[in-house]
Amino acid sequence: MTDGNRTLHVLIALTFTLMVAVVMLSAYMRLSATGLGCDNWPDCYGRILAGHAPHRPEWINIAHRIAASAMGLAALAIATLAWRLRRTAHRNFPLALALFGLTAFLAALGKWTHDARLPAVALGNLLGGLGMLLLLWRMHLGYSPQTAAPSGLRGWIRIGLMLVAAQAALGGMTSANFAVSSCAGLNGCEGWLQHATLAAFNPFHYLGVTQEGSFVPGATQQTLHMAHRLLALPVVAYLVWLGIGLFREKWRRSGQLLIAVAALQVALGIGAATGNPPLFLVLLHNAAAAFLLLALLTFSYRPRDPT
Ligand code: HEM
Repeated sequence: MTDGNRTLHVLIALTFTLMVAVVMLSAYMRLSATGLGCDNWPDCYGRILAGHAPHRPEWINIAHRIAASAMGLAALAIATLAWRLRRTAHRNFPLALALFGLTAFLAALGKWTHDARLPAVALGNLLGGLGMLLLLWRMHLGYSPQTAAPSGLRGWIRIGLMLVAAQAALGGMTSANFAVSSCAGLNGCEGWLQHATLAAFNPFHYLGVTQEGSFVPGATQQTLHMAHRLLALPVVAYLVWLGIGLFREKWRRSGQLLIAVAALQVALGIGAATGNPPLFLVLLHNAAAAFLLLALLTFSYRPRDPT
């Protein structure tokens, strides 16, 4: 490996670590702003929609601002270095450009609006952050010695990656529409299917509050909450099937890990869906989703690809 590529790899690895911190801090800021885990549940949930400022320690805001600015500089440095090294590591440049594009998108989103009434903002924040993590990890994989997953499974693993991404996006919509309290209890909401609406999946509709300033969840929230729960069934079944496939093909540890994290994700999801979930539990649910995506990207990577 050339000196330039070694420097780029170190920069990518450090930026990935920084990005993990940015994703977790952003998730904390987003979720604490909704009122998750607040004291007089469920009245306090969604109060931000009526213009109430979120309560959180000031150091979190400062840490997030510093980490996000550092991330912007790091993305620029990676794109510049990847451009210079495009002859020896030609695959890195488009990935680095996409990373820089996503960083600019998230910075613009933050400047453009903090309006919690528009679900697209929280959704963009969640998906943009996960996308950046995946791009950095993909660039890192290009430099790491790896054995290839069985070729017969790689296509199926990529489908798994897309399914988990779709499920994460639906989770983001559930959260961004303040739908956590809409179907408390294991059985879900009774009669939700009669009111289910396709309009619920539009992230560009504004959420409203009553004249008294309270948020009243309705059909949109029930539809999203139940859709997220129901899609989890085939997605998790698929992950277990993939895990068994990997296990049988001598990728035992990877198969076991995939099944274990999928099971953990279901347990965390059930915890989040029943009653007033503590904030840390939803943060873990978020982290497990990111972990599943990274694991599937690793298993689907073909090491013979030139970096
Ligand atoms: C592979 C399976 C799953 C994945 C990848 C996944 C992913 C996610 C993600 C990324 C979020 C958004 C969190 C945030 O905004 O930061 C979320 C939210 C949520 N998930 Fe899941 N989830 C899965 C399974 C489940 C299951 C099985 C349940 C319940 C039975 C569940 C219940 C919830 C609830 C209630 C929320 C909203 C929490 C909030 O308001 O922030 N999830 N999910």
